[in-house]
Amino acid sequence: MAEVNLLARYPKAKRNIKARTLHKEENRRIALQFGKEYFDGTREQGYGGYRYDGRWIPIAEDMVRHFGLSAGQRVLDVGCGKGFLVKDLMKVCPGLEVFGLDISAYAVLNAEPEVIGRLHIGNAVKLPFPDRSFDAVIAINTVHNLERAGCVQALREIERVSRGCSYIQVDAYRSPEERKLFEDWMLTARTYGMPEDWREILKEAGYTGDYYWTILEIDPEGLSS
Ligand SMILES: C[S@@+](CC[C@H](N)C(=O)[O-])C[C@H]1O[C@@H](n2cnc3c(N)ncnc32)[C@H](O)[C@@H]1O
Repeated sequence: MAEVNLLARYPKAKRNIKARTLHKEENRRIALQFGKEYFDGTREQGYGGYRYDGRWIPIAEDMVRHFGLSAGQRVLDVGCGKGFLVKDLMKVCPGLEVFGLDISAYAVLNAEPEVIGRLHIGNAVKLPFPDRSFDAVIAINTVHNLERAGCVQALREIERVSRGCSYIQVDAYRSPEERKLFEDWMLTARTYGMPEDWREILKEAGYTGDYYWTILEIDPEGLSS
């Protein structure tokens, strides 16, 4: 188990935190449905347009290198959305067999053409796959959308279906200031905390894979990156 940032090359975005704090409860209620509004509605209620732009290619390259993946091996992306990472893993490593699972029927029904048939609608707490069926399992910003017991269950499921290689990334903060920023911005997280809180959860689940944190950093202009 290693703390390693496999999203180091993911582009940083400026975020208008203030706009998110207006009508927060209603925005959160809508976002948690993981429907069209969350992916392709306004920025206040989610991504504000979840479109493929190739930003996952460098991350896919880093994952292939980190796990030593090669043609013929099988990878699962839990919380795959429309399958951008699924597509890019197959692009950077031809012959790699990549699949995804997401709770959102909207995302799966609006998947990238290259991944149609590779994405499943389902819940991370009960992965519909046999034990040890994937060489690597990835879950980026997905597990924290469950309540704590669900997080533990999802981590156990990742552990169960993987053959030893996995990577999760979850929301966290390191200070009261970062916590405030995070709570103002986030829409869908149900479990979050300091890295040490997460390490407890990983331990309780018996998770042996790699992990890292999504942390919103304070920006002096009031727009966070
Ligand atoms: C913040 S998005 C991340 C999407 C993608 N991994 C990325 O990083 O762009 C969270 C994703 O998790 C999915 N999701 C939320 N709860 C889930 C669950 N219990 N099981 C599976 N997927 C879930 C959502 O539909 C959404 O696609």
